[in-house]
Amino acid sequence: MLETMQKKDADYEMLKTLIHKNLGFNCEQYKDSHFKRRIDVRLRATNSGTYRDYVKLLQSNSNEYPELMEALTVNVTNFFRNPEVYDVVEKEILPALIKAKGTGLKSIRIWSAGCSIGVEAYSIAMLLHYLLGNDFNKYNIKITGTDIDKDSLLKAQQGIYSGAEMKDVRPAFLSSYFVKEGNNFIVSEELKKVTQFKKQDLISGPKMNGFDAIFCRNVTIYFQKELQEQLYMDFYNALLKDGFFVMGKTETLIGPSKDMFRAYNSKERIYQK
Ligand SMILES: C[S@@+](CC[C@H](N)C(=O)[O-])C[C@H]1O[C@@H](n2cnc3c(N)ncnc32)[C@H](O)[C@@H]1O
Repeated sequence: MLETMQKKDADYEMLKTLIHKNLGFNCEQYKDSHFKRRIDVRLRATNSGTYRDYVKLLQSNSNEYPELMEALTVNVTNFFRNPEVYDVVEKEILPALIKAKGTGLKSIRIWSAGCSIGVEAYSIAMLLHYLLGNDFNKYNIKITGTDIDKDSLLKAQQGIYSGAEMKDVRPAFLSSYFVKEGNNFIVSEELKKVTQFKKQDLISGPKMNGFDAIFCRNVTIYFQKELQEQLYMDFYNALLKDGFFVMGKTETLIGPSKDMFRAYNSKERIYQK
């Protein structure tokens, strides 16, 4: 019995090593329960009975790696996800940022951390365009989306959507900010101009700074507690004074940053530096 468990543990460790080496995905960052649940999805899909079977499969069939990456990264997202949060963003957060810019250098920097296929970044871009109207081009706007999953980033850069991710886009925005081609909705050039997407690991990647607002939603729930604490401090440091931090509805601010941020709207998980 003990021997079987040790073998199972050794196979699991071997699997983590393979994943790190071939996908650059650092398994130690994530809660073990989450990680095992995601791997089990692929074990079931490939009819692998044990971790050992799955390791063998990976070693003999490299086509399985992209499937595994997709299962591990959980890219599910949609435009204006949790519309009640975007309601506050549209009516309070972005107007406050715009007002604070006054007449000086009108630069607006926003970071969508863990951006998946880019819809969060484009949702913010739509709202900024809607609020600024003709003044949109007078601002130097840069919305940066970062993620570890290169396939998602590619989709973000292309800005072509068709499925369930469109469900909360209001009709006026559909016609103003997308070009319809067949079943596809293609993000307008005007929005693409102010967005950029790049590969970056939130834990081990370079630190960024100078942001007016950071959105990091539905990303940290899977991280180990200590990494969450570190990341929230990184976000605090990456924000300009009075900058906003928007978390996911099921995420909670923990660690030292909890005493440093002030709660702007706790229900919608919006904090301010
Ligand atoms: C569920 S999506 C969230 C998308 C969007 N923020 C939202 O709320 O709809 C989670 C994203 O976090 C990304 N992610 C996970 N670990 C990451 C890490 N260490 N660094 C950067 N991105 C990460 C995944 O690749 C995935 O695209």
